Amino acid sequence: MAKIYIEGGRRLEGEIRVHGAKNSALPVLAATLLCRGVSVIHNCPPLLDVGASIRILEHLGCICQREGSTVIVDSTALTGMDIPDTLMREMRSSIVFLGAIAARCGQARLSFPGGCELGPRPIDLHLAALRQLGLTIEEDHGLLDCRVEGRLRGTSIHLSIPSVGATENILLAASTARGRTVIHNAAREPEISDLADFLNRAGACIRGAGSDVIEIDGVYDLHGAEHTVIPDRIIAATYMAAAAATGGDLLLRDVEVSHLTAVLDSFRTAGCRIEPGLHTLRITAPRRPHSVGTVRTMAYPGFPTDAQPPMLAMSTLADGPSVFVENIFENRFKYVDELARMGARVKVEGRVAVVEGVPALSGATVSATDLRGGAALVVAGLAASGVTEIDELRHIDRGYADLEESLRQVGANIKRE
Ligand code: UD1
Repeated sequence: MAKIYIEGGRRLEGEIRVHGAKNSALPVLAATLLCRGVSVIHNCPPLLDVGASIRILEHLGCICQREGSTVIVDSTALTGMDIPDTLMREMRSSIVFLGAIAARCGQARLSFPGGCELGPRPIDLHLAALRQLGLTIEEDHGLLDCRVEGRLRGTSIHLSIPSVGATENILLAASTARGRTVIHNAAREPEISDLADFLNRAGACIRGAGSDVIEIDGVYDLHGAEHTVIPDRIIAATYMAAAAATGGDLLLRDVEVSHLTAVLDSFRTAGCRIEPGLHTLRITAPRRPHSVGTVRTMAYPGFPTDAQPPMLAMSTLADGPSVFVENIFENRFKYVDELARMGARVKVEGRVAVVEGVPALSGATVSATDLRGGAALVVAGLAASGVTEIDELRHIDRGYADLEESLRQVGANIKRE
């Protein structure tokens, strides 16, 4: 089994290019299903989850081609309307294909996405919204059997939680529905705006993405379109945490600074100097980070839950205590036990983690518990003295491409074997 080895304690210095956002690439690839024709999607990162999305598209009859970070999808002729259980389990976010398949094919068959390492991740809001749009969904032994007579019908939908995935599913399903759909309490994440931008390029009529009310006037058909996926704000936050944990100085290229406002505030509190440029961002860290105070994860534009683990890993080395309140997912502190093996002092009670801050961490053998928890271990390993050995890399590979190469370029001693 592959492992990452890090000999920590080196100050990171230099430049890193940030790749495209996984959480944008996945719904945009699902959206290509709706376009009868060829779509060209640039800046798709070479990640396991992107590979899984391409396999789903191919299973449904699309012809897909990968050229570097560009994915070309020809969805002219579809041959399927189901997603096999193995693919559903491989990638939990495959549920975002439901709205697209149902809208394009009038029926869809897929299984519930598997259980999740972050606690229960229900899809009740997705299903309720699609039912409101006229989709009949029968749930039978873990299978979802969905069909609609004719086209879906636009309607007014109030989300009780601004769920990212549910908002995406509604956008996909409503783009070609009959009439107008209005989503109230929609998610405002940049990835929602990116999906809406792609759909509009393909002929959809969506207004208000990025705000909490989105209006979609259904059109009859979408055509193929070309699109460049936005930069990954969580990757940017992870590299910033690595810089801050090692007293480093990094210039990040291909970032969208406006997507990082809440994260930048916390790094400033930690004593880092931030110099935003046009699609670049420089972070210069003090020798030892300061406390980040209290970080509360929230829906966008609040502090992103996905950036909580790397930020917490950085704050284990701070010169004072920090508090993390996880408001989005119930079980997002599993990785903390692994950090403890490295000497971190963190107390978790329910949704709250209190970090004491120690002068140094020491390398240890640890396991990635989930995607961002794995990234937290990399951040800690880069700062720790001695060697850190990380296994269960399949989690990290779902979201970070070129991780070791990027970090080596800026002075880290990191390798995979
Ligand atoms: C997306 C991101 C994930 C990020 C999360 C929150 C992708 C592929 N994943 O996940 O990286 O951490 O947004 O920013 O884009 N909920 C329900 N019922 C539902 C749907 C959600 O109760 O039907 C709850 C969830 O349990 C969670 C909260 O709503 O507590 C937010 O989840 P949601 O925004 O849907 O996250 P995802 O779309 O799964």
